[in-house]
Amino acid sequence: MKTPALMPVIHPKKQKIDVKKFDTEIVITNAYLVYKDEELKEKALSEGIHKLINFDGPVMTDSGSFQLSVYGDVDISNKEVIEFQEAIKTDIGTSLDIPTAPYETIEKTKEDLKITLERAKEAVEYKEAKNMEMLLNSVVQGSTYPELRSYCADELSKLNADLYPIGAVVPLMENYKYRDLVDVVMSSVSHLPDSTPRHLMGAGHPMLFALAVAMGCDLFDSAAYILYAEDDRFLTTRGTYKLENLQEMPCSCKICNNYTPDDLRAMEKDERTKLIAEHNLNVSFAELRVVRQAIIDGDLMELVEERCRVHPMLLDACRQLDKYTDDLELYDPRIKKSAFFYTGPESLRRPEVTRHLNKLKNMDKKRDLVILPKSRKPYSKYINKSDFGDFYTYGSETDLDLDNTDFMVLDVPFCLIPLDIDEVYPLSQNESPKINDIDSIEFIENFISEFIEYYDQTLISSKIIDLLGIGLYNIHPDSDNVKFIKDDERKVKAIADYQFGNGVGEFIFEGNLKIEKSKNTGKIRHIYSDGTLIANMRASDSFFVLAKEGAKRLHRFKAFPENRVVVNKDSEPFAREGKSVFSKFVLDCDTNIRSKDEVLIVNEDDELLAFGKALLNHNEIMDFNTGQAIKTRKGFGNIVS
Ligand code: GUN
Ligand code: ZN
Repeated sequence: MKTPALMPVIHPKKQKIDVKKFDTEIVITNAYLVYKDEELKEKALSEGIHKLINFDGPVMTDSGSFQLSVYGDVDISNKEVIEFQEAIKTDIGTSLDIPTAPYETIEKTKEDLKITLERAKEAVEYKEAKNMEMLLNSVVQGSTYPELRSYCADELSKLNADLYPIGAVVPLMENYKYRDLVDVVMSSVSHLPDSTPRHLMGAGHPMLFALAVAMGCDLFDSAAYILYAEDDRFLTTRGTYKLENLQEMPCSCKICNNYTPDDLRAMEKDERTKLIAEHNLNVSFAELRVVRQAIIDGDLMELVEERCRVHPMLLDACRQLDKYTDDLELYDPRIKKSAFFYTGPESLRRPEVTRHLNKLKNMDKKRDLVILPKSRKPYSKYINKSDFGDFYTYGSETDLDLDNTDFMVLDVPFCLIPLDIDEVYPLSQNESPKINDIDSIEFIENFISEFIEYYDQTLISSKIIDLLGIGLYNIHPDSDNVKFIKDDERKVKAIADYQFGNGVGEFIFEGNLKIEKSKNTGKIRHIYSDGTLIANMRASDSFFVLAKEGAKRLHRFKAFPENRVVVNKDSEPFAREGKSVFSKFVLDCDTNIRSKDEVLIVNEDDELLAFGKALLNHNEIMDFNTGQAIKTRKGFGNIVS
């Protein structure tokens, strides 16, 4: 099945909606309700759960824990419920975890957690002892204590469960405590294995899907579609509408096109409920399609920022993600298909921005810095002396030395964009409003006022001085002579440094360079050193794709295990032949690797076997036991003995 996915909740007795009409690939139902009803129980035991609920795809069952949290008690033991789920041929069963309510005392939370962990362990051991085929959920609990959530996730990770749901979040969602939901989910998922799906239990409101997926959730289940419908409420990505207030139908689904609010109000309750439930499912599945497309396009965070604007408490949740920028950065590819869109101050904390600012801080710097105003993109092409005005000086004023100067353009939200790398993603592939908000002005001011301390002197164009209220300045006596001189060699070296690390450009592009450009676009395409191809520049994002010699040089320059993926002996001949690398053959890899990075493939002796493009980040490559990790570009061939 495709993830992220929504599992409609099927009531084993009262179900009226046929969920097969929608994109449903998997459903969830409640094994405890089946167990408690003699008739259902008998049928489930003799014919199986799939027959009982009339669904032949994968079926997940819950264990009665939710009933436990609502009624305080259930009359089934952990072992019994596992055995029962296996007996009715559930595909994914759940142990009897204890959903500790949000804001419970820490003592009670710890007590509950102890039992939840014991039961999860008992379930996994029981499953293994009985050789059960059923997959197992181990639910993360720990109330609203992030450290207990993380502890629980760590302990459950040791069990090798098949899925990790995050439990007891329904009350948070019902009470709009989305900010606390972010802490609960992030403290859980950051301690769960990457290869195992995470299920946000009871999350069924489509306005939450984008946020939850951005945090790393793969599965949702929803009774919301029917519960809201029974209460005459419509789910939408903008929130919930009550039928009594509707003059217009809220979306463009089949139901909303075929009926008016008055039609629905005039109907019998049962018929109306069914139609609203169908609308609710239509909206929910449509939103998941939007989310999955956003993942493919690389603009999920834009979607999150958009969705979170529908309710102030959701905006708080989005802002709370700031706390987890480093976690999110790990899973954020450095290269994306879609441009970076600035949607508001929340965009300032996105991984793309943080990552660029860290690169700036760590790059090799010249003596002086010149800060120029924006022009048309690409800046390095359209930058024009007549737009500069005079230059004010910050720092100890000395003579201008153009060869010992970094040239950067002032930008929102990337603060400063070095002209040599201005075409690299996302420094050129981004859009922000021309009318700046106060947050972003303060943000760039703060960064730049710190950043210019790295330089002996900084020359700031008078055209942007108003934006950058930094100290008092003299006009630099060489103002008229400030000039950016384009230099392709310097440019390709700067891009290599930005992509692979400081010093790489000088090393891989040493020798007599020939830089070939596209006849149509004038963009750099191929770089040769002493007649040998070193690297190709990708037109869409201006990053390098190495050629064989480039990979060899990068390997020589960088110390093990930087930029490397280490494969085992079995996989070595395949890598050498240029075949893609599967995760299960990877022994080690650089923690700095993100999905879509160019990487070197080596053996345990650090012999270069091949090079290619990572399809996953470090954590994922190390954790996955199935699937491809690296799409190999070229292998260095097998040694003929
Ligand atoms: N459904 C909603 N929340 C929970 C939970 O915390 N545990 C289980 N087992 N099911 C749930
Ligand atoms: Zn609709």
